[in-house]
Amino acid sequence: MDLPRRMRRNRRSAAIRAMVRETSIAPGNLVMPCFVREGSGAPQPIESMPGCHRLGITDLVERAREWSDLGLAGLALFPVTPDSAKTADAMAALDPKGLVPRALDALKTALPDFPTFTDLALDPFTDHGHDGLQDSLGRIQNDPTVEILARMAALHAEHGTDFVCPSDMMDGRVGAIRSHLDATGHQDTGILAYTAKYASAFYGPFRDALDSAPKKGDKKTYQMDPANRREALLEADLDEAEGADILMVKPGLPYLDILRDLRERTSLPLAAYHVSGEYAMLRAASERGWIDYRSCLLESLVSFRRAGANVIFTYGAADAARWLA
Ligand code: PBG
Repeated sequence: MDLPRRMRRNRRSAAIRAMVRETSIAPGNLVMPCFVREGSGAPQPIESMPGCHRLGITDLVERAREWSDLGLAGLALFPVTPDSAKTADAMAALDPKGLVPRALDALKTALPDFPTFTDLALDPFTDHGHDGLQDSLGRIQNDPTVEILARMAALHAEHGTDFVCPSDMMDGRVGAIRSHLDATGHQDTGILAYTAKYASAFYGPFRDALDSAPKKGDKKTYQMDPANRREALLEADLDEAEGADILMVKPGLPYLDILRDLRERTSLPLAAYHVSGEYAMLRAASERGWIDYRSCLLESLVSFRRAGANVIFTYGAADAARWLA
């Protein structure tokens, strides 16, 4: 009996498969998240994130040169704040001599055209580890936090960052950041908003890397409930209206449905964050010989593209770029 259609004809050879392939992935779709620390000691490996290190500024610039040569879309910068600099008011976030401004100075001197994405959130700077200021009862203070984020954005912009990336999930922060950037002469600095950032257990290794886990409680009063889908559409509408340039969904693979929803909702470019726990799972299983890191990473990244991401933040960015070359 004849089959109605023989789908396998288009899968017969590598050349035919390449011809009918619907999705492509290139180094220019990938952003490398990285951790910068004080001092000039050797890179410190992060145990739960094999291949990732806390880097002094000099080593960071050296790695950034490699990432730029590989054709990556840029790097996302996260500072390791010494405990002694963490306070309840997170004032280290606004220090013009802080790690992020100094790292930006070094990066922009060496590699002026390699894009930087700097995180806006207070958790690396608060002694309690939350993304917002707290009142005496431990409740997160939305509007005072937004004020600091806006000033932090202008500080990063002064030091040349290409995109500021609010990852805190406070209400109204995108609009406040946009107006403050404009008012301070930084019309060209972009905002990549963590639009749908879920209260996820997959951030564990990242919090190890920065020693930034909340000392008490969880982040569920600001980050989204993993059970919610429509709420992400509302967040997207707000961030778009408030002036975001790129919208992000985070974490990654467990939330591809949300990414697809946003792709159908907005005409803005979309980002996805393949987060630390997802990366750790790939590395751990491959170290045991249970999966192949290279093919699983590349398959994950093409899946992000298929779901609608323009850009993917992934700790595997440099590995993938080498394999794609
Ligand atoms: C800070 C921030 C976090 C991540 C990026 N920015 C942690 C958190 O919200 O607790 C997680 C990234 C990752 O797990 O790779 N607000």
